[in-house]
Amino acid sequence: MYRSNTCGELRATNVGQTVTLAGWVQKVRNLGAMTFIDLRDRYGITQIVVEEHSDEATKAEAAKLGRECVVQVTGKVIERESKNSKMATGDIEVVAEKINILNQAVIPPFTIEENSDGGDDLRMKYRYLDLRRPPLQRNMILRHKMAQEIRKFLDSEGFLEIETPYLIKSTPEGARDFVVPSRMNPNEFYALPQSPQTLKQLLMVSGYDRYFQIVRCFRDEDLRADRQPEFTQIDCEMSFVEQEDILEIFERWAKHMFKSVLDIDFTEPFRRMPWSEAMEKYGSDKPDLRFGMEFSDITDLAHGHNFSVFDDAEYVVGFAATGCASYTRKQIDALTDYVKRPQVGAKGLVWIRVEEGGIKSSIDKFFSAEELQAIAERLGAKAGDLCLILCGKKYKALTQLCALRLEVAEQLGLRDPKKFAPLWVVDFPMFEWDEETERFYAKHHPFTSPKPEDIDKLESDPGAVRANAYDFVCNGTEIGGGSIRIHDPKLQSLIFKCLGFTPEQAEAQFGFLINAFRYGAPPHGGLAFGFDRLCSLFGGVDSIRDFIAFPKNNAGRDVMLDGPSPIDQAQLDELYLSLIPFEK
Ligand code: AMO
Repeated sequence: MYRSNTCGELRATNVGQTVTLAGWVQKVRNLGAMTFIDLRDRYGITQIVVEEHSDEATKAEAAKLGRECVVQVTGKVIERESKNSKMATGDIEVVAEKINILNQAVIPPFTIEENSDGGDDLRMKYRYLDLRRPPLQRNMILRHKMAQEIRKFLDSEGFLEIETPYLIKSTPEGARDFVVPSRMNPNEFYALPQSPQTLKQLLMVSGYDRYFQIVRCFRDEDLRADRQPEFTQIDCEMSFVEQEDILEIFERWAKHMFKSVLDIDFTEPFRRMPWSEAMEKYGSDKPDLRFGMEFSDITDLAHGHNFSVFDDAEYVVGFAATGCASYTRKQIDALTDYVKRPQVGAKGLVWIRVEEGGIKSSIDKFFSAEELQAIAERLGAKAGDLCLILCGKKYKALTQLCALRLEVAEQLGLRDPKKFAPLWVVDFPMFEWDEETERFYAKHHPFTSPKPEDIDKLESDPGAVRANAYDFVCNGTEIGGGSIRIHDPKLQSLIFKCLGFTPEQAEAQFGFLINAFRYGAPPHGGLAFGFDRLCSLFGGVDSIRDFIAFPKNNAGRDVMLDGPSPIDQAQLDELYLSLIPFEK
């Protein structure tokens, strides 16, 4: 037996017992007569003491210990003279009778404690050491607990967990595929699933009317704090349901998660917001509702005052930054610089300062005090607020103002990670126009059904067609999304046509699905939640990386394994692949 107890377990009630612990040496303090050793495992830390009158062999072993050595210690639990209330085991210590060094360790490249002195890159390279640190352990434990709660809830609702393959044919989720060459089928490639979308729809055709899977998905896209090339979805699909059924069951699921994991009760129904309202009030289809500062359209009030910046703009929009009238010129200039950054892309920022004594603005050459007052009122500004205004093409100006709203909220400390503001965004547009390629793309994916009342606009005005699609949003992050699918082959063909597929192209890419639907497809729909994002939301941390045991860095590399990496010529030959020289 390697150990009788863990390093997090012993309390005053264990005093007098002889125990054996095993773990890693966190710290050794040699005080001459006595040596104190902090012994750590994933359950906690226990103080070991080697006393002056301990036997020579034990003292000799203690002298060999360094950070991160793996040791087994047998000894007696005693009450500590000076107790440490900050440690769970702080009432006791173990007087070592025998120390058995199980493995020596070289000095780790950073400190393995609550806060580390190692930079990001170093900790990624030695991820197995970083994972020993309490914050990452807490994240892994949270993720585990959440996975259990997800399974418990969905199982109790009759969902079956069914695995789907990773080596498949391309699925259209809008990103690039990761592809895998096939040795047995030269010059042909599998695609790794961007999601199990088509497979779960096939499971509905097979009659498994409630399916779920906690499943890895792969997307070759640019990475951000909330994006990894491989990530995990809680993927769900149901048959014989309408949008309302899906929102009902997954709202209950979300509430179950908040309650069971964070002990937070949501007694009211989650807010439902049409996509158009989310865009016009918050400039985003994933609005952060932890705070207000909603937008108002002031185009009518802004036009016609010889201020060409406004006169030339399609749309003028602003919001009242709560309590920011006291912002100095320097602070306002910093906000202007913020919106002018290439990532935001605005040309400039107009402001109106609303104070008890009157109103001041960057545009008071063009607008009278009354006219500025009218704008401030439209924006809902009270004395003490600062109105911030942008203009341009409608959706561009809205998106830019969204970035500014979030920046101001950040400065005001309104983005509290312990506060949660969940909502459903509904009534998404069916298609999105792409200026570059001059064609429509599916906003969600090509299997999403249009709202029945909008079907007649599919050919005449595709941009106005709304979809039976919904997103679950919390604190400014899209946590999940889904839709009611098309189960009528004729409607599906029409949608493919709207998306610019010829019948032959549609057949080549999705023939298996279209064909399956001819054998009796039930009405169905579903959704998928980003599990990593849900974990980071619950953990109150922005980056999903901290909730993935072995993540990739921003360049999509695994710096610990040093992948991706070249493969040898024999492997290439076997796959009938030859490489085009690449210059960095
Ligand atoms: P969608 O593409 O919206 O829908 O993805 C669902 C959820 O997955 C998460 N997500 C990601 N998380 C981390 N890194 C990424 N690169 C990444 N991409 C997406 C998000 C997102 O809300 N098949 C459909 C679902 C359906 O219609 O049922 C789908 O995949 O949290």
